[in-house]
Amino acid sequence: MQNFAYLVGDEKTRLAAAVDPGWDIDLIIDVAKKSNLQIIYIISTHGHPDHTSGNDELVKKTGAKRVAHRTSRIRKDISVDDGDTIHLGSLELKFIHTPGHSPDHICVLVEGKLMTGDTLFVGECGRTDLPGGSSEQLYDSLFNKLMKLPDGVEVYPGHDYGTKAQSTIAYEKKHNYVLKPRTVEEFVKFMKEP
Ligand SMILES: [Fe+2]
Repeated sequence: MQNFAYLVGDEKTRLAAAVDPGWDIDLIIDVAKKSNLQIIYIISTHGHPDHTSGNDELVKKTGAKRVAHRTSRIRKDISVDDGDTIHLGSLELKFIHTPGHSPDHICVLVEGKLMTGDTLFVGECGRTDLPGGSSEQLYDSLFNKLMKLPDGVEVYPGHDYGTKAQSTIAYEKKHNYVLKPRTVEEFVKFMKEP
């Protein structure tokens, strides 16, 4: 499914967060070990299984705490909402609630890098036709939240669906056909098109 999982590590304390460890848990643990990082948080951008199916195994192997949006139905130790932050050593991780692909979706912003899960891909966006999906909400999340971030913010998506693995807000504004100027009504209609 071409999922991306991410490890966010603090260079000073060597504490780390794993974002969306869906598969290949041993690989994630191996990368953390080789980078001398201790995984203390598992952050789920949303509850879909391809992003969360490795959570239990990773908890078992690391004792990390699970972080998810307060409305998420997955098992979690820490509930977060829009604008909340958690600290990872000297790093501050900020959560942006971006419903639309799913009601519990969050993006994670750290040091000018944004992990966008299934809200925004390089050149694409997440689907809204799954249970709990909403094109109106995705419009608000994309245009009123993510596109309001500085142009230089780097975009790290939840799947490798684009022409490259990562981009920036400026790149998406320029090249992502989903983000062409549209009214909400036009966007909803656009999302229904095959
Ligand atoms: Fe998803």
